[in-house]
Amino acid sequence: MLEDKRILLIISGGIAAYKSLELIRQLRKRGAWVTPVLTKSAEEFVTPLSVSALAEERVFQDLFDLTDEAEMGHIQLSRSADLIVVAPATGNLMAKMALGLANDLASTLLLATDTQVLVAPAMNVRMWENPATQRNIATLKADGVAFVGPNEGDMACGEFGLGRMSEPAEIVTAIEAQLAEGPLIGRRVIVTSGPTHEPIDPVRYIANRSSGAQGTAIARALSLLGADVVFVTGPADEPRPEGVHIVEVQTAQQMMDTVEKALPADAAVFAAAVADWRIDGASDSKIKKKPGALPSLNFAENPDILAYVSQLEHGRPKLVVGFAAETNDVIDNATAKRQRKKCDWIVANDVSPETGIMGGRDNTVVLISDDGAEHWPKMSKDDVARQLADRIAQALD
Ligand code: C5P
Repeated sequence: MLEDKRILLIISGGIAAYKSLELIRQLRKRGAWVTPVLTKSAEEFVTPLSVSALAEERVFQDLFDLTDEAEMGHIQLSRSADLIVVAPATGNLMAKMALGLANDLASTLLLATDTQVLVAPAMNVRMWENPATQRNIATLKADGVAFVGPNEGDMACGEFGLGRMSEPAEIVTAIEAQLAEGPLIGRRVIVTSGPTHEPIDPVRYIANRSSGAQGTAIARALSLLGADVVFVTGPADEPRPEGVHIVEVQTAQQMMDTVEKALPADAAVFAAAVADWRIDGASDSKIKKKPGALPSLNFAENPDILAYVSQLEHGRPKLVVGFAAETNDVIDNATAKRQRKKCDWIVANDVSPETGIMGGRDNTVVLISDDGAEHWPKMSKDDVARQLADRIAQALD
């Protein structure tokens, strides 16, 4: 699978750099070509000689090496790879990436590239948890940078926690996933996920119990088949999927605006539990509690994103998939919903509390299409996502 793939491996300065030697060995064993780039501080942890001996290639270190500029400029170096891997990625290098700084060879390559980037962070747990690092990670993820790890465990500094770089075998698996040549390569798919929050005032909102687990799994499964996924998510705790474009929204209206901007797309999967109503005239300041006087809330209807996209006259995605979370008459309600909204498929499920589906790991769904109702056995949400992604790939073929 990695035979003759070209990996540009950027090694930045952390104790985990020693694991990058093993990573190079495993990549070479699988037939991949590795072009190593060392930052200045990486040279404190591994020597250019050992890196180049394992990679069987010269090591690039300096932006201003004129011979390199004549032989291969940084632009070309950054774009000739199938994948750029940063392992280990220090907090400092990720901060530079998030800001678009280019003050050495590694950061310049990362700014100049149009190739997919996979990052394997490694740092002390406090540095990892620092809000600045988390902000940078969120920025990079939204830019489409893929992540592997970090893992939890003992650290070289004697502390315990998140921040250990993934093991070389895990990084190889993540590289293979990035380079997967799936049936959805070149296809753009929009996925909505999670609940929406509709403000009552600046501190209160209306929400629902959606965890975002199914939508997240679908985005991940589509991306693994090679799709270019735009993942539009409401506020959800579920860890974000890797390697997709993430747009975080709060309200149904924001979700609608984001979906409109993300069009055109080959397919759209609306897995979000969008609030049907918002508060008409939400208060700009906190509504004060007054003894004996209850506030009255007026509702306004939210835009129906699924119905809107399904009924677009121009630029409708070839395949539009909606969800129907029902507590009774699941098939009848979902079939009527499909006709009313004019989507191609409805993935229906029973979300009565006793099913444990909302917030749970498993799902039992019925796929409703022109061909009728197809009952899928109970399976994990990840498996539902994989099967659905396969079916989407077939439908777009
Ligand atoms: O009408 P109902 O909310 O049951 O429809 C569920 C389906 O419609 C889901 O696919 C959901 O993502 C989508 N939906 C939407 N915009 C809304 C309401 C629902 O896209 N305002």
